[in-house]
Order: sequence, then C-alpha cells, then structure tokens
Amino acid sequence: MAPPALLSSKWATSLCVLSALSALFTPAVAVKEHDFKKCVQSGFCKRNREFADHALGAGAWQSPYNVQADSASFKDGQLQATVLKTINDQGETVRLPLTVSFLESGTARVTVNEEKRQRGDIELRHDSKARKERYNGAEEWVIVGGLAVDKAAKIAHEDKNQITIQYGPASKFEAVIRFSPFTVDFKRDGKSQIKFNDKGLLNVEHWRRKIEPPPEPEKKEGEEAAPEEAAPEESKKDETPKGEDESTWWDETFGSNTDTKPRGPEAIGLDISFVGYEHVFGIPSHAGPLALKETRGGEGKYTDPYRLYNADVFEYILDSPMTLYGAIPFMQAHRKDSSVGVLWLNAAETWVDITKAKDSKNPLALGVGAKTTTTTHWISESGLLDAFVFLGPTPRDLTQKYGELTGTTAMPQEFAIGYHQCRWNYNSEEDVETVDAKMDKAKMPYDVIWLDIEYTDEKKYFTWDAHSFPHPINMGKVLDNHGRKLVTIIDPHIKNVEYPVDQELKAKELGVKNKEGNLFEGWCWPGSSHWIDGFSPAAREWWASLFKYDKFKGTMENTWIWNDMNEPSVFNGPETTMPKDNLHHENWEHRDVHNIYGMTFHNATHHALQSRKTGEHVRPFVLTRSFFAGSQRIGAMWTGDNQAAWDHLKASIPMLLSQGISGFPFSGADVGGFFGNPEKDLLTRWYQAGAFYPFFRGHAHIDARRREPYLAGEPYSTIIAAALRLRYALLPSWYTAFHQAYVDGTPIIKPMFYTHPSEEEGFDMDDQFFVGNTGLLVKPITDQDRVATDIWIPDNELYYDYFTYQIIPASKGKRVTIDAPLEKVPILMQGGHVFARRDRPRRSSALMRWDDYTLVVTVGRDGKTAEGDLYVDDGETYDFEKGQYVHRRFVLDGAKTITSTDAEGRAPKAAEDGEWLRKFRGVVVDKIVVVGAPASWASKKEVKVEADGKTSTAKMEYTAASGGRAAFAVIKKVGASVAGDWKVVV
Ligand code: NOJ
Repeated sequence: MAPPALLSSKWATSLCVLSALSALFTPAVAVKEHDFKKCVQSGFCKRNREFADHALGAGAWQSPYNVQADSASFKDGQLQATVLKTINDQGETVRLPLTVSFLESGTARVTVNEEKRQRGDIELRHDSKARKERYNGAEEWVIVGGLAVDKAAKIAHEDKNQITIQYGPASKFEAVIRFSPFTVDFKRDGKSQIKFNDKGLLNVEHWRRKIEPPPEPEKKEGEEAAPEEAAPEESKKDETPKGEDESTWWDETFGSNTDTKPRGPEAIGLDISFVGYEHVFGIPSHAGPLALKETRGGEGKYTDPYRLYNADVFEYILDSPMTLYGAIPFMQAHRKDSSVGVLWLNAAETWVDITKAKDSKNPLALGVGAKTTTTTHWISESGLLDAFVFLGPTPRDLTQKYGELTGTTAMPQEFAIGYHQCRWNYNSEEDVETVDAKMDKAKMPYDVIWLDIEYTDEKKYFTWDAHSFPHPINMGKVLDNHGRKLVTIIDPHIKNVEYPVDQELKAKELGVKNKEGNLFEGWCWPGSSHWIDGFSPAAREWWASLFKYDKFKGTMENTWIWNDMNEPSVFNGPETTMPKDNLHHENWEHRDVHNIYGMTFHNATHHALQSRKTGEHVRPFVLTRSFFAGSQRIGAMWTGDNQAAWDHLKASIPMLLSQGISGFPFSGADVGGFFGNPEKDLLTRWYQAGAFYPFFRGHAHIDARRREPYLAGEPYSTIIAAALRLRYALLPSWYTAFHQAYVDGTPIIKPMFYTHPSEEEGFDMDDQFFVGNTGLLVKPITDQDRVATDIWIPDNELYYDYFTYQIIPASKGKRVTIDAPLEKVPILMQGGHVFARRDRPRRSSALMRWDDYTLVVTVGRDGKTAEGDLYVDDGETYDFEKGQYVHRRFVLDGAKTITSTDAEGRAPKAAEDGEWLRKFRGVVVDKIVVVGAPASWASKKEVKVEADGKTSTAKMEYTAASGGRAAFAVIKKVGASVAGDWKVVV
C-alpha cells in the first residue's frame, strides 16, 4: 500500500502517525484511478494507439518497414536481415537489424534492434548520463535456458519477396518472413497461427536529434511577438513525421512530476495476431477475468489497454486492465485443441490492446462457421523488440517451453506451502508467542508467523525495535520448538539517517541514482530513503552480507524474509514509483528496466539467504510483491492489498489461475482481505478458498481488527480449523504438485481450458480448478449466503463428492449442484486418480514429517483403474537434486491390485541413501481408501500385501453403495514403506 501522493514532505515515521495515515485508507476508499496513467496520458501509448487508428483507418496504409533487398541470410538456425524503416517522403531510412532464431525447443525468437550508426547520431539531452543504447539486459535476468538454436531448421522456400524457414518438431513449424512490408507468419502444419505486423502496426520510434525551438526573440515592451521562424528544412527532415504528436517526445508531465527523456521517443509497437483464436490468457497481474477482454471499448469491454507497469496500486479496483504490482509479458491464445503463445521480452512500461474480429470469407455464410481472430497490439516505451513465439499445440507444451526459457518454480521448503499467519503487525514478542500458543490451543495448524514493518527500530531494516522485540532469538526458539518459522519484512528502501546500512549504501555507491547521477532520495515508510540498486553485482554482494546471522542479529535458521514495496513503491514519485529518468548500474535508465527492478531485489534477497552461513544448505523462502517473468525461480508472490469484500475473494481465483498459466504458480492472495474487517462468514469462506491457494497466508492491515482464526468464534473457528486441517492433510499432494511445477512449469492449480483443451464451454471458466494431478476439482464459494453451487463437469469421468462420496455419474458438459453449507468447500474427486494425504492432525508441517500416509484411490468410470503419484523429499535442503527423494507411482489395475513403483523407473536405491531417506524408508502407508470400490470386493475381509519380498495381510472394510453414495473400501494398517515397491492384492 502507499499513502496518497500529497504526503511528500512532512513525513513522520512514528507508529501513531502511520496509524493516522492508514486511517485514511478505509475500505470505502478505492484506489485513486487518476493517480495512475491511462493510455491517453502516457505519451508513447497514445502515439501508438493513434498510429494504430491511422493504420487501421479507412485510408490505404502501407507499413513503412521493409526488409532490405539481399540483406537476408540464414545460417545455423538463425536468419539475419536488415529491416529498413522509411522515415520521410524523401525515402530516408533507418536501419533495424533483425534476427529470427529458431530454437531446438521449437520456439522461435524475433529480435529487432536499432543500428549503432543511429546511436552515434543522437545526442542525449541535457548533460544526462543515461546510456545511449536500447536496453538489451532483459535476457540476462529472464532467460536461463532453451536458447540452443535448431541446426536442423532449414530454408523451405526463398524468392525475392519472402523466405520460408521450416523448423520445430518433425519440421512441422514454418515461419514465412515477407519482405515488403516486413511481416512474419508462423504456421503449424501449414496453417497460420501467429502473425507479426499483419495489421502494419510495427512501429520502432527511431532515435533522432532534438530540434530545439528557436530562442524567443527578445521583445521590447509594446512590440508584437515576431512570427515563429521555420526550422531549416534540412534539419527538420527526419525528425517530424507528419501528423505525429510530438508533445511528449522530449519530456512528459504527469501530476507534479516531469519525466525528462534524454533519448527522446523510442517506443516500440507491434501487432501480434492469433489467427483463428478467440481466447487469450496471461499477462498477469490484473484484477480481471482469466480470459482477457477486448480493450478498445464497447459493451462489457475495457477502453484502456492492459497495462504492465509494476506499481503500488493499493486497494485496487476489480475487473480492470489497470496495472498491478507485477508483470509477466507472456500470453497464451487458445482454441479447441490448440494453444499458441508469445513472450514479449521487454522490461519497460508496456501496454497491450486486444481486439477480436470474425473472419468470414463467405458473405452468404452470415458469420456461420466464421473463426474469430484475436489481434493484440503490444506497445513498450523503450528497449528492444524481442518476442518468443510458441506454437504449442497443447497448453502444457506452452508452459513447458516457457519454463525451459525462463525457469520453473523454485522447489519450496515444505513449510512454505503450509499456512502462514500474518498481520500488520504483531506488536511484540509476547504478542507473537500468544498467537502461537492460541493457534495450538484452537488446534489450528500453521507453520509461519510474520512480522511486518513495525518490528524494526523506526523502519531501519536489519534492526529490531528494542522495546517490543528485545529477545528475538528467544522468540525464534519458541517457534522452532514446534517446527515453526518466522518471516520478517525487508523492503528495498533504506532509511536516510545515520545508521550502518545506509552509511554503507552511500559510501559504496550502491543505491539507485537520479538523473544527475547522484544518489536518488525519495519517500517511503521510513520517510526519506535510498533504494538499493539490485542491478549492481556489488550491491547484491553487499546485500548478501547484511543477512549473515552475525550482521542481522536476532535472526536464526528459522527466520525467512518478505520483500514488499519493490515495484519500487516511492510515495512521492510519479505514479507512486521511481522517476523514469533515474539511473541504474551501467547507467541504464529506470525507464528501461522498471518491470525487472522488483525481481532484482527479490533475487538479491534469495541469494543472500542462501549464503547466510557457510555450509547451510537449505532452500530459502522469500515472498515478493513485485515480479517479472523469471521470478518464479526465486520464491512466492501474493496479489497485494486487496479488500475484505466478497468480490475481492472472488477475484482472487482468476488472478491466481492467471499466475499459474503464466509460469509463476506459487501465488496467493491475502486471506480475509487486507483492508477492512471481514464478516465472519466471509472470513470463513476465505479460509476455505485459501486452503486451495498455492500460497496460503492470512494478512490484515494495521487498522483492521484482530482476526486470528481462533477469534472468529463458533461455528466459524471450528470450520476454519477444518479448512486448515484439510490443507495440512493434503500437503503431500500439494508438495507433489509443486514438484511437477518445479520439473516442467506445470501450474499447481489449473483452469479448465488447461486440463480440458477440447471443451470450449470451459474456456471462459475461472471459478473452478483442478489441483495438481490429484483429480480434485475445487470451486470455492465466493458469494455471501450461498449454500450450494454448480460445478461444471468437463469430461465423462465419474466424480465423487470429496466429503460424502456421493457419485456424480458421467455427465460431461453438465453443471451439477453441490450442497455447500458454510462448513463445506465444494470439492469433487475425478475418478481414476490416486492421491496421498496425511490424516493425523498436527500443529505444523514439520511435526508431520515422519507420519504415515493415507492413499485415496478414486476408481475410474471403467470400475477398475486409477493411478497417481507422490513426490517426497526432506522438505528443506537441496539434497533432492542429488537423488535424495522418493517419487512413487500408484496404480490400481483390473480392480485387483494396487501397486507402488518408482515413478521415474529408477532402480531401487539408485542413489545411496542419505540420512533423511534412510529414516523415511521407515514411513509407511497406513490406510488405503478406495472410493468406488468394485462390488466384487464386498465379501473380502482381507488383502495380501507384498513388500520387501514378504507377504502379509491387511484388513479391509467394505461399505456398500447406498442412496447415491459410492461403495468404498478401507484397507487398514497396510504397513508397506512409502519409499519402496509394494503390491496390494485384493
Ligand atoms: C504493503 C503491503 O502490501 C502490505 O501487505 C503490508 O502490510 C504493508 N505494505 C506494510 O508493510
């Protein structure tokens, strides 16, 4: 959250002043939309929209971008050419080097730069120190692999007008690069999927000299001003394309801030058409539906483009393309049985317009059978044009290929996927310990308690308020006694007072600089502050030193970190962030790197925690508010300052689904809503939904009433405790889903279009989802007083109610009504799965470490099969990278046997057992619950268990089907090691 812009100068830091300020943010006050730009207020966005209107208008339009004759060459999977931009009637051109790379993964990459010669031509305005280059560092931050070029890519056709390259798996993909005008048509199996510049909106605002207006002639009193002298034609010629709005070329004012633009206009724009695709998803984070809306007006549509410009948009409005705290410029387009996508690798402020049009070739068809094409218009303020193209065809192909490039979810420690208890603020050690004890007393499992900014000594990070937190180590030990952790907040703004952290930052020059090249000073929680420059390797190294246990005193092995305000939030800055003409490491302007800044900080903290102590070998936990493509490799994110309102609860689901399909699934929303005081039913429903967020944390604003879940009173507290226990029981399955995300970027909670890409009715659906590979289909209740809900059934499998085992017979495409009184989260189990639980209630995940497992088998429609997997490791260290993990595949076959084998086909004891694995071999499967058990089992009382070369028996209790409830069997005390091969024979 951020205070209103007017609070710039007299900023006081005491708690009471902060509380007074925060009182301004009652839930009734929504975000001040006018504090954030609309496209029309952002010079480059407005220019590019006008360019689009002109190009798409009635007159004939010819894109001024052509590939220079004979410039194209193709070698080793890469096409190089020069695109010429004609900039005036005299036919003068600007040279734009083009590279199209075809990667082994089948992904293609198109990069357009501006030639050096031009750079030499431009003079920076003022005495700015800003770097005179298009920013090319995004790749370094975002891309971690998958760049090997496909040497098998080959020219399939070439003539003077175009060149066609064949590439990808079985050479099924093609890129047709046309020269005049320059367009690229990406095809799969001979059919166009994605087209670049098909509408002619490519626009690279080339650098130019600024023509200063002639000095005002001196006026004598009483004299008329002399008519303006025209600038000599010669110098004007390449600087002023006709009709273009130049008013924001060289500076731009918004509110009280003027952005000086030393390099002048340098935006890039491009239309990307998804041919025959009606649905597009992705480009989080926005508070709107999962399926992105059209943005150029009309009923139910937005009027502004989706904006990607990381900002502290406290109390954000819903159903809006407004920017939020983080940005992932990745978009998937989907139609029946086909997904394709684009990653727009640009870290500057970006806007994306979306329009849809039916293409009906036959006018007599009256639109029948016509396909819809979605055209997107990407507009970034500066930097390279650098776009990756994914041709699918499945949604999973996209998340995988995207993961190959940008990395996948960091494998979290197990505690990180348990429940987190936070508020702004727990006020003292006693407060923390009391909450801790009361959670236990209420039998509410939780893993982590959090400290917001008030734990510090006057917002000086790396210090503690000596009065309220005199013995943080003692407090940490109390938590550690039952396996719990502490998370403390550390933000990127460093208080501008005499204290060692700020002194070092200044002395070593590790802060972000202003346009004059001096240390930038702005306002945030501590008042006057400086910002660490996460782009600087020296700054990151220094940052790491601050987290050593002997430096950040009061922290210990169970202390982890929360990075907030890292968009960065600057209270007195333009749009509550940093001036764009600020300077970073190597003199890149903030404008060039804005959307990556938050990730650099998150990354610096992550690395710092990896090196707190030599030999400490555990996976860090760092939560971030701001993020970019690639942040998934570092930690978790949450959706910022929502409100305690039903519509915010509802909005959280599409927001998290969008994160998941955009490669960053470790995501959550503040449970209960940050601002305001949730009614008890809302709080209860929010816990039930939160139990199915990948990141599950309750949080509240400093002015919100206390709402630890045990305070809710009956029946709410009991219901919330049940939701928490449900989360904990299912932790093994959540952990398995996280592992899948770590392996190949698969989302943890999955929308319908992702799991059922052929079922068109599900494409717009964003209120129900599957969890990992469990087959659990969840639809949290997000409406007040609702006691039943309709779940859409995406296929012809059997479904069972999770709690009652009620059968939902095969009913593909139907909506079935599920009772959902307050105490019930609507969950169905899809037939055909096996998933793992740990049923014994405990206080924290650490205390469950050696507990037995329960396997739940949901028998499929054929009445005899099911399968699933389970991944387990020590939940803490990186030893899993050395084979210290258990990954099992469970199969129910022919209604006779249930087997457990290594899911990866590894030989038994492929790696030597470490300490954890040795001990884990003693952990056993206790129960197997078979829902939909075959009638032929009714008379059986015992099953055979073959494990470790021995055969034993286990008891089975069978309950016959009745009143719509499925038959089920419980096999008790199975006793076979979770880590080993075994077989149960019924
Ligand atoms: C803004 C964050 O979004 C919120 O979660 C936090 O409580 C406040 N900053 C105070 O640190």
